[in-house]
Amino acid sequence: MAHVLLRHRDIDDLHKLSVYQDNGGYEGLKKALGMSRAEVIDLVKASNLRGRGGAGFPTGLKWSFIPKNAPETYVLINTDESETGTFKDRELMERNPHQIIEGALIAAYAVNARMVFNYIRGEYMDASYAFEDALRECRAAGIVGKGILGSEVDIEFYTHFGAGAYICGEETALIQSLAGNLGQPWSKPPFPAVEGLYRKPTVVNNTETLANVPAILVNGPDWFKQMGTEDSPGNKIVCISGHVANPGNYEVPLGTTYRQLLAMAGGVRGGKRFKAILPSGGSGPIITEDALDAACSYDGLTPFRSVMGSASVIVMDETTDMVWAALKMIHFFRHESCGKCTPCREGTYWMEQVLHRIYAGHGTEADIKLLESVANNMTGKCLCALGEFATSPVLSSIRHFLPEYKAKVSSAAHQAARASIPVAIG
Ligand SMILES: Cc1cc2nc3c(=O)[nH]c(=O)nc-3n(C[C@H](O)[C@H](O)[C@H](O)COP(=O)(O)O)c2cc1C
Ligand code: SF4
Repeated sequence: MAHVLLRHRDIDDLHKLSVYQDNGGYEGLKKALGMSRAEVIDLVKASNLRGRGGAGFPTGLKWSFIPKNAPETYVLINTDESETGTFKDRELMERNPHQIIEGALIAAYAVNARMVFNYIRGEYMDASYAFEDALRECRAAGIVGKGILGSEVDIEFYTHFGAGAYICGEETALIQSLAGNLGQPWSKPPFPAVEGLYRKPTVVNNTETLANVPAILVNGPDWFKQMGTEDSPGNKIVCISGHVANPGNYEVPLGTTYRQLLAMAGGVRGGKRFKAILPSGGSGPIITEDALDAACSYDGLTPFRSVMGSASVIVMDETTDMVWAALKMIHFFRHESCGKCTPCREGTYWMEQVLHRIYAGHGTEADIKLLESVANNMTGKCLCALGEFATSPVLSSIRHFLPEYKAKVSSAAHQAARASIPVAIG
């Protein structure tokens, strides 16, 4: 299958402007500049491209929310990529940066923005160098800056590094952080499309979302909709990690099953048996064997009470202690909670405390109930989605692997563990 997103795997040196242009690069932008802004938005709407950052919001619709006559608007590329097990935007930035720049230029033209900000995860130095090199080439070639491609449209780019906070991937926290404020979400409304960066209408799109846009302009919405499923058209980069033989990024049509993904990654490594998957890194409820034939798509995991999210598939084999896995995840969420709202700040702290007690063998049956109760009391009461995400590994591991919890609090294990040193986490 020829790649649409990971095209650098088929074409050597695609990160160079000349090579990108020799392979159809910036033709989508040229086409967009020959259309009205409304036509560009309608075309992206017709493709039903949905956001690849996790929530799956329709991209064209999001762009259409930007007020038509707003004097100042912005486009933000979300390359914060701090979800556990996600590393797709990094590869795109490092190896195929022009496709992101072109997608962002089309977005900026569509919403009449003169400035694009790329908010990049702080550790992604190589990715930022590749992106800046590509921007330098574009400026020299008149693709970025004043009068792009000989038009009367001016669009500049600015790169900003995050400082290592997962919450700054959430769009309103990202906007705050970019503006130099404390990186904490705000309660919506106002939505960024109405009041975003510097209180101006702002589009926030994931890096992979924007990388889809140039080919949609060139080939049209029907071409795009041939890939994937009706509700989830297009290809998706799935990041597969954990206990598989060949971890990495895999570009597949949406709708590919989890069993097929597992096979692509060489199956469970070392001849071990499959146990479970964290399908959206730590943010999506754990799935087990019965969900392996479900589609990796926006609604494919709904019957299994889980979500695709950003498609970071962490595979766990039979040796994985699921209480340990849940503890690892909650440790992450407790650390990354921004602390702005009480249910998340306190809930993640107490879930970690109780889980640690159970894992260390000091827990009781009542602690399992307490854990569930804390998680259930967070659901629907947190200011942003991080609080909901944090409950996922806890509630789903109890749902699927209650016997493992019970074994940890049974009297024999309990007594043995009490005699031993508590296990450190980290
Ligand atoms: C805690 C949290 C972390 C997030 N991290 C990211 C991220 O790293 N990258 C990203 O694109 N979206 C992330 N999102 C989703 C963004 O808020 C937003 O929905 C997305 O950037 C919109 O782009 P899209 O419509 O193209 O998917 C995160 C959301 C939450 C709640
Ligand atoms: S849910 Fe958590 S991360 Fe989100 S605003 Fe509240 S404290 Fe911050």
